[in-house]
Amino acid sequence: MTGPLVLGIETSCDETGVGIVRGDALLANTIASSMEEHARYGGVVPEIAARAHLEAMGPTLTAALAEAGVALDDLDAIAVTSGPGLAGALMVGVGAAKALAVALGKPLYAVNHLVGHVGADILTGDELHYPTVALLVSGGHTSLLLVRDLVSDVELLGETIDDAAGEAFDKVARILGLPYPGGPEIDRAALGGDPAAIRFPRGLSLPKDLEKHRYDFSFSGLKTAVARHVEKHRDEGSDVPVADVAASFREAVVDVLVTKALAACADLGVPRLLLGGGVIANARLREVATLRCAEAGVALRIPPLSLCTDNGAMIAALGAQLIMAGSAPSTLDFGADSTLPV
Ligand code: KG4
Ligand code: ZN
Repeated sequence: MTGPLVLGIETSCDETGVGIVRGDALLANTIASSMEEHARYGGVVPEIAARAHLEAMGPTLTAALAEAGVALDDLDAIAVTSGPGLAGALMVGVGAAKALAVALGKPLYAVNHLVGHVGADILTGDELHYPTVALLVSGGHTSLLLVRDLVSDVELLGETIDDAAGEAFDKVARILGLPYPGGPEIDRAALGGDPAAIRFPRGLSLPKDLEKHRYDFSFSGLKTAVARHVEKHRDEGSDVPVADVAASFREAVVDVLVTKALAACADLGVPRLLLGGGVIANARLREVATLRCAEAGVALRIPPLSLCTDNGAMIAALGAQLIMAGSAPSTLDFGADSTLPV
């Protein structure tokens, strides 16, 4: 194993992640999640997330060092997510990373969370080929990126103009009376359902929308369409066909995600697609992406789920890439930027 020994800290949402890599080899990926504390609110509550990071940071750091079998003094550098994400949550990670860097006298690298998701793929052991289109889908983001070089050339092609895909799963689950987080619940509820039973809208897919929003996503209209459908049944006193609604809703999300990602691959002549983010756990998304990429001659990469959901290892991996590319460390005056561009 060669390359710099880097510790990565991730606190942009509800996962406190501390990861350790040596070059492109994964040594530790420790995560504490405050998901359960948010469940009764039906979504992530920023204040609760920030407080939970503060409590979890110490134990998570200790656990990661033990998992990797290294000491703080052994580290070559620290990397941390400085944005985008929840401001208060980010500040906890940035504060911890700065404190470590100063106390240890090690260089510090502030990195972008979305680029970090792409960096996760490096840890799979298979070489990442460029250029690649990356589709990142979670509770906080739905972004389509063109990655020509992980360290120096990542372009945002499009993103959601309202809800993130995972957020849509969470909101629709709530409409159907299912608990948070909604993604796995919808997957379960959709079992035996007919994905073609109800033709729910595919956001920003009409010719007039495609002109301006070819690579952008919108899920709020879909969520409203599901709510109307459910209300209609309830008003009529008929049973809501939950399995059909869940399967048809999921189909609409998956269809638009895969269609737009493959449109980007075709338009840009890029025969590679990389997936990341917690929504990648969705069984139907993986299935449809696999089928349609094969038809289109696009090589599909899906890292293991532990690297797809928010984690510190992907931040450490990106930090290591920056060091190996000769990038200068960050100066200590950077802040947390909730809308940091790629
Ligand atoms: O990446 P992640 O763990 O955290 C962030 O949001 O950053 O993603 C969590 C999101 C939640 O919205 C959850 O409902 C969604 O991913 N999710 C799923 C599935 N499992 C988790 N969405 C669809 N299908 C799933 N099986
Ligand atoms: Zn994320």
